[in-house]
Amino acid sequence: MVKIVKTVEEWKGTLNKLEDRDSIGFVPTMGALHSGHKSLMKKSIEANKTTLVSIFVNPTQFNDSDDLKNYPRVIENDIDILNELDVDYLFLPDEKELYPNGYTYRVNENNFSRKLCGAHRPGHFDAVLSVVMKLLNIIEPTRAYFGEKDWQQFKLIDGMVEAFFLKTKIIPCPIIREFDGLALSSRNVLLSEKHRAIAPEFNRVLMSGKSIDDMKSELINLGFKVDYIERYENRILGAVILGKVRLIDNVKG
Ligand code: PAJ
Repeated sequence: MVKIVKTVEEWKGTLNKLEDRDSIGFVPTMGALHSGHKSLMKKSIEANKTTLVSIFVNPTQFNDSDDLKNYPRVIENDIDILNELDVDYLFLPDEKELYPNGYTYRVNENNFSRKLCGAHRPGHFDAVLSVVMKLLNIIEPTRAYFGEKDWQQFKLIDGMVEAFFLKTKIIPCPIIREFDGLALSSRNVLLSEKHRAIAPEFNRVLMSGKSIDDMKSELINLGFKVDYIERYENRILGAVILGKVRLIDNVKG
């Protein structure tokens, strides 16, 4: 059975008693766990003696209060998944535990975090970096696992670890998709039937090899609102909106 830890003090006590502190794998999540999260957990379990998953719906990283309110919360189901995979610990803090002084102290990145998704979600990545900094300092993991679905997030966290000389090694993990190409996401359950049916077109268009402008027009014609489609390093990244649901994806290209 997964052991549930709710406070920093409780985890530090457990950590002090752990036999192998150099082999702790950490998978930070916001819950509503799916096979994308599971793939990160499996990688951690393979490479580490102890695996800890955190579930915390971080309020500061939501730009839209409805998005925060509607974010799926299914903790009983999540605990079943953690037990199925034999995860050792679940860190399940409340907001006060992680933000004892509110959101007055924060990590600020002022270059890459303003591009791509950051250009459309002001402050989002500072909030992600801030909560991940807190979590890395609390958990003290050897390795932490992040999905390439959130490629910009992974790159920024990797950059923060380097910039602040943190000890944890950041491990990127490939994107897990539905049979039809749609990248798994906790928000997919919020798509209407009609939007779920056209959602896979997003990945198909990103993979099409067309010009960025043609991709945008095709997506708009299909009924998507396009936040951005951009080439960055050797990737094509994008964010689109269907109804009230924002989807992100990226492909090599
Ligand atoms: P969340 O969206 O729950 O994602 C947790 C981790 O799972 C992230 O590293 C994300 O990239 C990864 N993930 C999600 N869908 C995936 C997929 N289809 N394939 C592979 N990996 C996938 O990302 C967050 O939470 C938060 O921003 C967090 C880092 C926990 C900070 O609050």
